[in-house]
Amino acid sequence: MSNSVKTIYLKDYQAPDYLIDETHLKFELFENFTMVHAELHIRRNPDKQSDELPELVLDGQELELLTVVMDNVVINSNSYTVDDKSLTLQPNKNSFILKTTVRIHPETNTALEGLYKSNTMFCTQCEAEGFRKITYYLDRPDVMSKFTTTIEADQQSYPILLSNGNQIASGQEDDRHWATWQDPFKKPAYLFALVAGDLWCVEDSFTTMNQRKVDLRIYVEPENINKVNHAMTSLKNSMRWDEEVYGREYDLDIFMIVAVSDFNMGAMENKGLNIFNTSCVLARPETATDMAHQRVEGVVAHEYFHNWSGNRVTCRDWFQLSLKEGFTVFRDSEFTADMNSRTVKRIEDVAFLRTHQFAEDAGPMAHPIRPDAYMEISNFYTVTIYEKGAEIIRMLHTLLGKEGFRKGTDLYFERHDGQAVTCDDFVKALADANAIDLTQFKRWYSQAGTPQLEVLESYDSATKQYHLTFKQFCPPTPNQEEKQPFVIPVKMGLLNKQGQDLPLQLVGEGTLVGDVILITEAEQTFTFANVGEKPVPSLLRDFSAPVKLKFAYSKDDLLFLMQHDNDGFNRWDASQRLAIEAIQQQVVNYQAGNPMVLDSGLEKAYASLLADSSLDQAMVAEMLSLPAENYLVEISEVADPDAIHAARQFIRQQLANNLKGQFLTHYQANRAVSQQEAYRATADHIARRSLQNMALSYLMLTDDPQVLTLCLDQFKHSDNMTEQLAALTNLVNSPYESEKQQALVDFYEQFANDPLVIDQWFAVQANSQAGDSLARVVELMKHEAFTIKNPNKVRSLIGAFANNNLTGFHQKTGAGYQFLADQVLALNTMNPQIASRLLTPLTRWRKYDEERQQLMKAELERIMAADKLSSDVYEVVNKSLV
Ligand code: TRP
Ligand code: ZN
Repeated sequence: MSNSVKTIYLKDYQAPDYLIDETHLKFELFENFTMVHAELHIRRNPDKQSDELPELVLDGQELELLTVVMDNVVINSNSYTVDDKSLTLQPNKNSFILKTTVRIHPETNTALEGLYKSNTMFCTQCEAEGFRKITYYLDRPDVMSKFTTTIEADQQSYPILLSNGNQIASGQEDDRHWATWQDPFKKPAYLFALVAGDLWCVEDSFTTMNQRKVDLRIYVEPENINKVNHAMTSLKNSMRWDEEVYGREYDLDIFMIVAVSDFNMGAMENKGLNIFNTSCVLARPETATDMAHQRVEGVVAHEYFHNWSGNRVTCRDWFQLSLKEGFTVFRDSEFTADMNSRTVKRIEDVAFLRTHQFAEDAGPMAHPIRPDAYMEISNFYTVTIYEKGAEIIRMLHTLLGKEGFRKGTDLYFERHDGQAVTCDDFVKALADANAIDLTQFKRWYSQAGTPQLEVLESYDSATKQYHLTFKQFCPPTPNQEEKQPFVIPVKMGLLNKQGQDLPLQLVGEGTLVGDVILITEAEQTFTFANVGEKPVPSLLRDFSAPVKLKFAYSKDDLLFLMQHDNDGFNRWDASQRLAIEAIQQQVVNYQAGNPMVLDSGLEKAYASLLADSSLDQAMVAEMLSLPAENYLVEISEVADPDAIHAARQFIRQQLANNLKGQFLTHYQANRAVSQQEAYRATADHIARRSLQNMALSYLMLTDDPQVLTLCLDQFKHSDNMTEQLAALTNLVNSPYESEKQQALVDFYEQFANDPLVIDQWFAVQANSQAGDSLARVVELMKHEAFTIKNPNKVRSLIGAFANNNLTGFHQKTGAGYQFLADQVLALNTMNPQIASRLLTPLTRWRKYDEERQQLMKAELERIMAADKLSSDVYEVVNKSLV
């Protein structure tokens, strides 16, 4: 029953009673079952003394226990107890060898956790608590063991047999063959991996900083062999970058990546054998967009970086998840910034954080980056743990500076190599290496919620002093009413009339380090001296803290910052503030039934962006894109989906009409280059295509048949998915019904054999702004290419509709909500992790009007009333309804 789901608390953490020094596994893979033989070398934990030998409680779920042998003595079932979660034994020695045999069923495992099948191959996903579905074990990250794994399978169907570490033996008997792998590094069970299948691989090598040659292999199903070059290049770049920036060298002789079609998340950092969702490995120009290429690069780097931040130094318990995830996201985002455009990467990351993480912080699942309680750990692989976690690490980087941060991470890796540690250990290493007190800073680890930072200015021309008063306030979150002040690093500048930065000279109280002031109090005033004229402040440059900054900028200030701020991020942010104001005014007009109008300031700003050829194209594209509907929802007091959509659309339409000539010039110039140059996924090419496609999307709003011709030409005659998909998206959202239908048919035919492209085809339709999108989604669920068992399909059709199609999902009848709840219920038993993630939009019910709130809550209650709710779904629904 669902109400048997227990809450686990950080404060209850206990070190394990027993440790497992060695783990020897043997898998016999068959079509209808798999046998798992485990030999565990167990001893008491010397750090936990007691007179009596404690019971040994091994985790295990959905296992059919066949034999138990302790030090070669068969244990009969009177001497142990088994329930649906564990196997309990009473040892009589301090150290012993336990052998178990279990039968499991990967062939019917639809949860995609533990050992399962994806297409014809066997693969594993053990993080966080999946290993217990493979064998009885101490399935917790502070139990680290040396693994030796033998896999035996049919030679014909499964020619490739892989596990962590190095292959040390292999053999053949009749039609079956076997291979033994050994991982020399101790690791927790969540990093275990096994793969068996008919796979092809691309091989390459990397020579480390100490001249060791590492064999690199990317394994895929044969039809994908021509799509791995980009991932391989990304991998080599990541390996070099981690040596150069962190001094971290790879530590095995072989590094493998396997691409699987059915995967709950992006990828998994198993030691020496990363397993990836195909969507995060496969990319070639004709089938993957620029965005997809960048995702591959980022995820390959992320998983590779985990080898140090996660594997060599791992988490003591799952409350510490952000120890590895926040740090690794920070590492991969800096890598991406170094490989591409730093400012664009920052803009993308901040837009994502503000849209998704700020919304999570404001909802019922809000939690600090180090939570103190959970029911189902799978629910805590969140934007808070990952993206906000990365922002906290970024602030530490800002506080310590590049060198100080490196000193800190060097000490962290040196001190804790081979250990399972806590966030406190991480911060302590950084503090010790820099002789700095981070006690107050650590509130970022324990307090949830997005702080608001309100800033007031005053200028005294007689004394030439300029004052900034900062007030921080963090709204209450579940179980956290009151918050203590955070340490907020505010990177800033003061601009004179010419747009130049004035020298910052602080007088009186407060700390200024370089161009960063430190806010540490609930309210604090900073005084700057020798300020000859009233400046325009540029605050929170580079988004130096994950807060909501409130400052009463005038429209002129924003236009000024947009043009002159020497911080690229703040130039973009000024453009967003300007656009938000313009849209929010039209929301009010729409709701009052008044005519909507286009703000002339915004139009002028856009016109000058389009006219200035000296600007970075990537920046122009970013600044020309209006804030996403989801973000407009997040910043609304009460979000009105129809008004938000109508207002944003109105402004897009007006800008398109009024600036058509300029958009056309940009479009044609960039499209011409696209036609001349071979596709490359480099920052400059990506920038050009994003500006081209941005221009096209505005132009398509002008109802000009000449533009339709351009769009159709781009759809039919581009050599890359970035251009083709952008054209398709525009057609699908256009009034040209027959062209739209034809394009969808043609696209499907062209790519019917490529599941990842068909995912895009589903997503484009799920996001369609045509009024019948829900009916369309329901229809598409019956399409031959759709299956609810594949998470990528679920995300691209159902997920895209519920998360991105604001008016479709929030239609007043409640039909969108009902549809989503039906899918959650269907997935609840099939794949609980996916079911629970799919729920997110319903948990945000407090954002909407009374009527929608009732409809959304009714669906949550309907889910709550269902039989056999998984702990995953139960936790989210339960917390959403209190
Ligand atoms: N550790 C993985 C990452 O961030 C996350 C992950 C992959 C995961 N698969 C999962 C988490 C399944 C929970 C369940 O790279
Ligand atoms: Zn990760």
